[in-house]
Amino acid sequence: MAEVNIYEGAIDKGLEGVVACTTSISFIVGNTLNYRGYTIEDLAANSTFEEVVFLLWNNRLPNKAELTAFSAELNKNMALSPEFIAVLKTLPTNVHPMAWLRTAVSLLAHWDTDANDNSIEANSRKAVRLTAKMGALVTAFEAIRNKREVLAPKADKSIAYNFMYMLKGAEPEADLVKLFDTCLILHADHELNCSAFATRVTTSSLSDMHSAIVSAIGALKGPLHGGANEQVMVMLAKIGTIEKAQQFVQDALSAKEKVMGIGHRVYKDGDPRAAILRKFSEQLTKKIGKPELYEMSALIDDTMNKQKGLMPNVDFYSATVYHSMGIPTDIFTPIFAVSRIAGWIAHANEQYEKNRIYRPRGKWQGKEGLNWQPVEQR
Ligand SMILES: CC(C)(COP(=O)(O)OP(=O)(O)OC[C@H]1O[C@@H](n2cnc3c(N)ncnc32)[C@H](O)[C@@H]1OP(=O)(O)O)[C@@H](O)C(=O)NCCC(=O)NCCS
Repeated sequence: MAEVNIYEGAIDKGLEGVVACTTSISFIVGNTLNYRGYTIEDLAANSTFEEVVFLLWNNRLPNKAELTAFSAELNKNMALSPEFIAVLKTLPTNVHPMAWLRTAVSLLAHWDTDANDNSIEANSRKAVRLTAKMGALVTAFEAIRNKREVLAPKADKSIAYNFMYMLKGAEPEADLVKLFDTCLILHADHELNCSAFATRVTTSSLSDMHSAIVSAIGALKGPLHGGANEQVMVMLAKIGTIEKAQQFVQDALSAKEKVMGIGHRVYKDGDPRAAILRKFSEQLTKKIGKPELYEMSALIDDTMNKQKGLMPNVDFYSATVYHSMGIPTDIFTPIFAVSRIAGWIAHANEQYEKNRIYRPRGKWQGKEGLNWQPVEQR
């Protein structure tokens, strides 16, 4: 009989409770989240996305000159070249934007002279280019599928401003840019979440940064991770009116179906990002004259808490926030990528610094001792 590997180690399905590495990027304890030692509430109230990206990558806040130089560097790298836009226009757009984005980021590597250079210097140049261009890619997709011109970003404007400007082709309202910037801060990193882990797994083979980010986009796309924000909006549209919300939750629970945007592997007493987004949702749905969207969300939140003790995660209220900003529903998850690339890069760099390849084991549950037979005898 062939020797079979029967692994007897403890199994942690979904790696729950497994501590896979040391990290100093972001940390969750109880219902608090911090980036590099600063609470998410502090950063959301006082910081900008660019400043948070600097913080995540450099383990400290920038001084004024550093922030100005870093923001300028990001701004300079935002635009897509006409040659690259021409290639993007050849890609079919009848796919999910996350699938298109995955391909577009992979294609960026073909134009990046540092693509195969894993030195610290090359990785820091690629980090800036990838982060700066993520919003330009998502908005280019929206322009191409609507047969509109792909706009160039405006000089001296932030990632948040340029995203909103290039998405709609119009000057965005200043208060919405501020709110959107805060949304980017809230989504920038989250310890060893699924896509950060995917980044680290790919990086751990000493593969390149573009490959790691493509892995991350693939992981983020799923409805149990970043894809949940889009699904929340789909769910609200399906429910339709507030009167039907409680029954919808009852039916989902009876059918053992997941209510999107609710629950979390780590937070059991609530996600601090959801608390901030809930206020934005209330404010913005009122502003656009659709307060019932917030009210329906709040009722689902309350019902899930009472019925299952589960609370909303970051994706629950961000859905109505983005909807109120007039953003198409299938662009919600790509926005997550526009922000989370900051964290993915921090994780890739931390992994390169202290690398050991990820290689867990699987407990064998298959057949044993079979003998090959010629095809005629099977
Ligand atoms: C976030 C999530 C993937 C965490 O998964 P997890 O840690 O593996 O938790 P589980 O799926 O094992 O859930 C534990 C229990 O809560 C229930 N549960 C968790 N989330 C639920 C949800 N959104 N709706 C209904 N029930 C839920 C599970 O059915 C399970 O119940 P049981 O013990 O009676 O079988 C999960 O809560 C989920 O699928 N949520 C919806 C998708 C989502 O919003 N994802 C974004 C995450 S930021």
